[in-house]
Order: sequence, then structure tokens, then C-alpha cells
Amino acid sequence: MSVHVKPGHAMTPRAHIAVCPPHFFEVAYSINPFMEPSRWEIDATAYHEHAVQQWNKLTDTLARLGVRLELLQPHAGVPDLVFTANAAVVLDQKVLLARFKHKERQAEEPYFRAFFEMLQSRGLVSEIASLPQAIHQEGAGDCVWDPARQMFWAGYGPRSDMGAADYVRDFFGKPVVPVKLQTAQYYHLDVSMAPLTGGEMVYYPEAFSPASVGQIQDHVGNPDNLIAVSAEDAANLCVNAVNIERDIIMAPCSNQLRGHLTERGYQVHTVPLTEFWRSGGSAFCLTLRLDRYSDGFLSRQAKKTVLHSVETA
Ligand code: ARG
Repeated sequence: MSVHVKPGHAMTPRAHIAVCPPHFFEVAYSINPFMEPSRWEIDATAYHEHAVQQWNKLTDTLARLGVRLELLQPHAGVPDLVFTANAAVVLDQKVLLARFKHKERQAEEPYFRAFFEMLQSRGLVSEIASLPQAIHQEGAGDCVWDPARQMFWAGYGPRSDMGAADYVRDFFGKPVVPVKLQTAQYYHLDVSMAPLTGGEMVYYPEAFSPASVGQIQDHVGNPDNLIAVSAEDAANLCVNAVNIERDIIMAPCSNQLRGHLTERGYQVHTVPLTEFWRSGGSAFCLTLRLDRYSDGFLSRQAKKTVLHSVETA
């Protein structure tokens, strides 16, 4: 078994993304309806090898598209560590660490913390914060940045608490809209919605309470920007997509969904991720953007750079 990650590009990367090689990935417990350890056991070695191949393909695709990958060291006994989206909410170099609901995943928290401390020592992170003990929040898996609207969507119900939204708002100083996930199947927000860079919203309405569907529709406004996926695309975790500018990296989807995306100017790159479906995860879950910046942050940085160049001229 080997994982290989292409060396970084000489050009400026288009995104900086944390991933964790699936050395220890398996389905050893069940904390969502996709996970069936007894089925995994039937052919564990083959599934694992296949998962490694699929992960390699995903990371190769990202590297080819100009993404700089940051590797988190895998550890035995925490098979879901591959799902780096759940590590934290990250914006403007600030990190709000996840607090997992299930004890199986709580064991990942020290590894994620150490990873962000390492990034802080390299100057890539300015601040690391934790939520109060009693509040659960599962990182970017349940708190998705909407670049077109400059706000967070915060999923709550199965894993994260509604109250986490207030902490996210206070820590990052950005608007947060809490939305209720009403099914066991679509247990994280990132398997239920994907706000795209152009303002479109890919989502599975059945995953949300009726009031939350109303809120999503109100915020998106223009009905042309609402892309509701079929039950089949939702079950294949196609909503769980990585979107970098006009590129979308996702598990194979229906022609219909692909058509909706391409006619809006997106380029769809599909990667088979069937072994990760066994754990309830797909492309977005396996990644965490470390370079998400709000427009306000970027314009402050630009001003600083101008001032600096004036001062040093
Ligand atoms: N088995 C993992 C869990 O149930 C899958 C997590 C997928 N991550 C995500 N962001 N949706 O927690």
C-alpha cells in the first residue's frame, strides 16, 4: 500500500488544502447510517487498498488543478482522521477547533490541534480557539463558508449544536445562518449543501427542516441559483464537492447534475470515492481549505502590502 502526493507546484497555488493519507482508514464502528463494520469486515483488505487508490486519485486531481496539499500525519486507532473537513472551522487564518459528538471521533481532537499548532508555528495560522466543553461542533463539515455571500451556514441537529453558531459568529465576526438537518442519513451540512463560488447553491432540500429550506431559498434569492439534487445524487454524496473557482471535484454524478453545473460555467472533475461512502464521506469531507479568506481580510492585507511597499520604497 502506498500513497503518493505530487510535489508542490512552482506557481502560486490556487488553494491550500489539508488532507490525511488513509493508511488507517477503515469502518470499525458505526456513527452514521452509511457505516456498517460487519460489511467492511467481509473484504477489509481489498476495500482498504481500493480506498488508498481512490484517495491517490483525489489528491492527484487536486494537485493537477494547482492545489497545494498539506499532509496531516495519519494515526492508528482513529480511522476517520482522513475526514479533515471535520478538524475545525478555518477563516482568515483563524481556527476554531471541532468538538466531536461521538467519543470515537473525540480521540482525533489532539491530532488536529497539534496540526494547527504546527501551522501556527509556520505563520500560517494566527489564532486557535476551542468551544466550551458542552458545545459540539464538527468543523467545516457542519459549518460551510459561502464565498458569494460572505457568511457561514451552520448545520445543527445530528452532530453539531445550534448554539455553536453564536461562537462561530463571535470568533470570526461574520454572519452565520443556522440550518437544521432533519435526517440521520444527511448528518453533516457538507453532505447536504454546497454553496458555489458563483452564488449557486447545490443542496438536497429533504435533508433540511422546512423552515431551513425556506431560509436557504430566501438567502439565495434568484431561483436560477438553486440547484436541488435528486435523491440518488444525494445518496452518492455528490453534494460533498470541492469547489475551487470554476472547478468542481466530486464523486461521479448524474448527467442532469453535471449539466446544471456545466451550463453555469463550472468544470466538473469526477473521482470515484465509493470506499469512503462506506464511512459516509466523499470529496469535500476528505479536504479542509486552510486558505479561506473573507473579502474584508483580503482588502486589509492588500492595504498592508501597499503601506509596506510605500514604507520600504
Ligand atoms: N465516518 C465519519 C463520521 O461519521 C464521516 C465523516 C464525513 N465528514 C464530513 N465532513 N461529512 O463522522
